Amino acid sequence: EIRFFKLKTGAETPSVGLGTWSAAPGVVGDAVATAVKVGYRHINCAPLYGNEEFIFYLCRIDCALKKLLDDGVVKREDLWITSKLWHRESNGGTLDSGKARAIGVINFSVNKLGDLLDIARVPPAVNQVECHPSWKQTKLHAFCKSKEVHLSGYSPLGSPSNEREIEVLKDPILNTVAQKLGKSPAQVALRWGLQIGHGVLPKSTNEARLKENYDVFGWYIPKDLLAKLSEIDQASSFFLSSLCAYFHFVWD
Ligand code: A2P
Repeated sequence: EIRFFKLKTGAETPSVGLGTWSAAPGVVGDAVATAVKVGYRHINCAPLYGNEEFIFYLCRIDCALKKLLDDGVVKREDLWITSKLWHRESNGGTLDSGKARAIGVINFSVNKLGDLLDIARVPPAVNQVECHPSWKQTKLHAFCKSKEVHLSGYSPLGSPSNEREIEVLKDPILNTVAQKLGKSPAQVALRWGLQIGHGVLPKSTNEARLKENYDVFGWYIPKDLLAKLSEIDQASSFFLSSLCAYFHFVWD
């Protein structure tokens, strides 16, 4: 099933998380509510996305998560919120305070992660990076695995609605495999991530696509088709990989 990945802290992070980058502030609350009703238990957000307050700060009055908790749709302890701090804001105090289940980093290359692991008092449990069948991060994945750092993949669909040089969901190999399995290219891209062993954080504010993206359990990609997917040409769609920012999983 691969519904969770166990971190080295012992915490279990839900394998599929709702991405919220580029979700419009006016709709992100509804998207979160729909996602939780569909079954999502992991929300990936950040102050930098300009919409986070609509997800949980305002929940103290009447917004998405508070309502879901009040209505008993989900239990507080079952939700996993990934948030982020800009590096200048990270003073190390948030972990020590016991408010984070685990800390991680985002956009760390093998070299940067290696340097960090050499000196970190609390090593990162997660490295969140762009990852999809057209950008497999093979070397980084292996390095993370050897260091017990969970790799969490953002833009697992290649962010198709933005202007990209590559369009992951249109890849012919991905489409052939999807056809063979009777699944959508998006579902195969996500299931591929889970079977390779990393978390996936697809963003959607559309109910049908939210459901489609969560329908990645109870079936699997057989070995031969998984091997076929590894033939997909590699090309990153993001320039962000050089940016570094600490992020924290906060659930206080
Ligand atoms: P929308 O929010 O209208 O569904 P990524 O997570 O790789 O950044 O991709 C997010 C983009 O992909 C969003 O623009 C989202 O648009 C779109 N998207 C999400 N799910 C699917 C899907 N199942 N099929 C096609 N496009 C999708």
